[in-house]
Amino acid sequence: MKKKLKIKKTAYLIIIIILLIVLLILNPTKNNKNQSNGNQSTSKEETFISNIKKIDYYNNEYLERYIKYQENNPSMDSKQIIKNVNMNLDQKKYEYTIKAKNLNTSKILVNKYYYLDENYVPNNLEEIDKEYSKGGIKLVKEAKEAFQELSKKARESNLNIIAMSAYRSYQYQVTLYNNYVKQDGKEEADAYSARPGYSEHQTGLATDVYNQKETYTNFEKTEEFKWMQENAYKFGFILRFPKGKEEETGYQYESWHYRYVGKEAAKYIKENNITFEEYYATKIKD
Ligand code: DAL
Ligand code: ZN
Repeated sequence: MKKKLKIKKTAYLIIIIILLIVLLILNPTKNNKNQSNGNQSTSKEETFISNIKKIDYYNNEYLERYIKYQENNPSMDSKQIIKNVNMNLDQKKYEYTIKAKNLNTSKILVNKYYYLDENYVPNNLEEIDKEYSKGGIKLVKEAKEAFQELSKKARESNLNIIAMSAYRSYQYQVTLYNNYVKQDGKEEADAYSARPGYSEHQTGLATDVYNQKETYTNFEKTEEFKWMQENAYKFGFILRFPKGKEEETGYQYESWHYRYVGKEAAKYIKENNITFEEYYATKIKD
């Protein structure tokens, strides 16, 4: 009789233990919690995705990058996220590289992400008149004509805007960049000089200017600079590396480097106080 009771007790105990194990495994509270968190984060991501899809410069190819960038910058506004990723700011400069597009147009973008082949030479290069340049330097025809008009107009106010560097071949940039590296080391050189293939000067649409009195690095202190600030856009030129935009452009401020982008783009860029990178990321479909 006693033995039967003991067996019964042990059986009950085993059943209770099994029940407890089953309960522990199923653990409905924990699972529910996980599920609801999962739902919450899914719906947060879904809201983010549906919001960004409405932005007109949203690019579906970059969806994964937008999501990752948002995770790393949770307080950033959606438009800024799309803009920054479109500008490739989620990627390392000179590591994530793409062949430049819109070749031989005024909308070509060349920077530390977009490069030109060694053998790329723009069409229609023409020498800038000696009256407006230090001589023997070229720009693409459209940019050359616009620059000469600009310089001529400035002269009406007794101002002297002279091109001192314009189109530079890949090979020329090799020599220039290597000399800068020898002089200042790679890290410093990278802050102000493009590596070969990554220089906007190879597009034939960029020019460095000075007034023939001050050295070009002092251009900011001149009346000619003030005039350029007010008028360059009317001729289709923009200040390409503005102060405070180093992360976007990849370069320190250069008061002397101007880029031809066409009148409409230059006006838009000036009025909205943006860089060419931002213009490209929001207005030009790659
Ligand atoms: N100084 C500009 C960034 C160039 O080297 O093209
Ligand atoms: Zn330059």
